[in-house]
Amino acid sequence: MPSTKAGAVRILVSCLLAHITIITPLAAAIDINVDDKTSVKAAASKIAKGLFTTYHNVASTAGDFNQPEPWFWWLSGSGWTGLLDYMIYTGDRAYKADLFAAYKENIGPGNDFAPLEQKNWEANDDQMYWLYGALTAMEYGFDALPCEKPCTNSWLAISINAVNAFARRWRADESTCGGGLKWQYRPSEPGYTYKNAVTNGGFFQSTARLARFTGNETYAVWADIIYDWSERVRLVTPDYHVVDGTSDHEGQNCSSVNRDEWSYNIATYMHGAANMYAYYALRRPGDKQALAKWKARTEGFVATAGKTFFSQGGAVMYEQKCERANMACSTDQTSFKSSLGRWMGKTAVLVPSVRATASRLLKSSARAAAGSCQDSSGKVVCGQRWTTGMFDGQADFGTYLSALEVVQSVLTVDAPPLLVQAKPRQGA
Ligand SMILES: *[C@@H]1O[C@H](CO)[C@@H](O)[C@H](O)[C@H]1NC(C)=O
Ligand SMILES: *[C@@H]1O[C@H](CO)[C@@H](O)[C@H](O)[C@H]1NC(C)=O
Repeated sequence: MPSTKAGAVRILVSCLLAHITIITPLAAAIDINVDDKTSVKAAASKIAKGLFTTYHNVASTAGDFNQPEPWFWWLSGSGWTGLLDYMIYTGDRAYKADLFAAYKENIGPGNDFAPLEQKNWEANDDQMYWLYGALTAMEYGFDALPCEKPCTNSWLAISINAVNAFARRWRADESTCGGGLKWQYRPSEPGYTYKNAVTNGGFFQSTARLARFTGNETYAVWADIIYDWSERVRLVTPDYHVVDGTSDHEGQNCSSVNRDEWSYNIATYMHGAANMYAYYALRRPGDKQALAKWKARTEGFVATAGKTFFSQGGAVMYEQKCERANMACSTDQTSFKSSLGRWMGKTAVLVPSVRATASRLLKSSARAAAGSCQDSSGKVVCGQRWTTGMFDGQADFGTYLSALEVVQSVLTVDAPPLLVQAKPRQGA
């Protein structure tokens, strides 16, 4: 996401842009019965269409979606992953051609989502939020991108290219803090000294997903290294809170942390832990100790997320840092709940012991998220504060995306199965 220098501008701009939509008498909340798949699909379809028709712009160089200045290219990547999830869970391929066009434009010469157009500011976490789309397409066997022989842009190849880039950058930065990937990967950027949760959790999750899918132990080893480092510098606490970041600025050597907690940070680690559990369950079921360890971690993240990011300790998902009286969530922050919905839903598929808890949390939140959306004769708008029981007047790309991912997260358990590259080897 935009670096700190841009951050100051960003807050100002998002204040100016926050538009209050007048609720006309014809507007009705989106109807949903969270226990009925057809109803959930219909609600997801309306929200997806609202997101797409309001923001899609092929001419936008911020990832084919209109985004406010300074630059929210990462949000477009997350938006495409949301629409990809929508297509996979519902079978409706409405956005495939536009998704492929956006990927073609943003994948870059290295087939790793580092396009030349973004090179002066792209950060590790920005790249990750595009990469999550490739990982998702790989896991569900989504149609391949068009390619010329030899094919170098399979979903797996793209995922490996990006993860290898993160591994190289980690090694280059290992001299401080005993490891850790920096937020920015260009030394000239102001965020270069920040080693944060969304970046390291994203690297962790990406390696864990590759480990589960390929069975290649190299990725599982990386996942362990990143997770252990995150615990050591206290980005991940013993009771599974995930704080925002730590720094190697002026010799700080990650000796203290920024304690802010955001829903997308814990979600990032939660889904990584779930994939590691699944990796062991599938590939190395004899390693009871590792299985128990990743099961406990996944359960810990789900329990802590439930206490921290759901109102009244478990009712409706909310972004506790910015959904308070007299506060507003910024352009980045309105989208964070989409990550928690997305990854808690997929975690429920991979780790049976958290399924009931995750489903309960997601269903009550999906009901509230749909209730925050207004449908005025087909024009859909979704709000930020689902705890209010209505549209609260704040709408932007992130509020649509969060509503979409949380509503459709209810569908993950009935989605097509998550694939693996090869059958687990005997005794591996
Ligand atoms: C920085 O932290 C790492 C890991 O905690 C430690 O191994 C290293 O000795 C520290 N370096 C300095 C200069 O304190
Ligand atoms: C496992 O992954 C690593 C890192 O991408 C790669 O170097 C290695 O060749 C892979 N091993 C196999 C058997 O594919």
